[in-house]
Amino acid sequence: MKRLSINVDHIATLRQSRKGREPDPVFAAVLAELAGADGIIVHLREDRRHIQDRDLEELKKIVKTRLNLEMANTQEIIRTALMIRPDMVTLVPERREELTTEGGLEVNLNQDAIASSIRTFHEGGILVSLFINPDLDQVKAAHRIQADIVEIHTGVYSDAIGVKDTEKELGRVINAAKMAFKLGMKVHAGHGLNYQNVQRVSAIEEVEELSIGHSIISRAVLVGMERAVREMRDLIRLA
Ligand code: PXP
Repeated sequence: MKRLSINVDHIATLRQSRKGREPDPVFAAVLAELAGADGIIVHLREDRRHIQDRDLEELKKIVKTRLNLEMANTQEIIRTALMIRPDMVTLVPERREELTTEGGLEVNLNQDAIASSIRTFHEGGILVSLFINPDLDQVKAAHRIQADIVEIHTGVYSDAIGVKDTEKELGRVINAAKMAFKLGMKVHAGHGLNYQNVQRVSAIEEVEELSIGHSIISRAVLVGMERAVREMRDLIRLA
């Protein structure tokens, strides 16, 4: 059975639009878990544009499934992560001006820095996932520096238009997933997945977990968190 982890950053984005107290991403996490989510993800950005340190502290106390902290590989965020001790971290590239995480990590080019952080997290008993493009060289590099998990970026697949490009991009995701699995890493996938495109990815045998944020939160605004999560879980199960 595939796992579904839900990113609740966008609840915090709505709250920060008034710099107030509601809606609370912690409440959203509780509702997502009650509806059957297998994990909660938040991205603590260096500019704190949505998730705040307080959210992370509260989520650490409340999340009963698995708390995954998405983060840039910087000293300040690493210190926070080691203090909070989430169940796992996902290292992502981060640019201040981007609307969302745009591409995967360049593992080869930043090998020493990423390997050093992986060692630090392993000493703290925290699993490390690397968010990478569906690129076999990146998969091999992640394995070489002992990542526990790779999260394959599905953004280009999700944005592909027409059957030919969609199949080509899905093929890249499948190949990367198969290689990562063969090398002994756990395989997650995410970015841009929605109620229309999720099933092709959830049908990939090697993918153990899907990370989904925007489409579920967007639907939740209209139909409620519980229904939005259940509908996504049903689609994933049926694939
Ligand atoms: N995985 C990673 C590493 C991400 O950065 C994001 C976006 O926060 C997601 C998954 C979820 O993407 P989306 O919000 O498009 O579902």
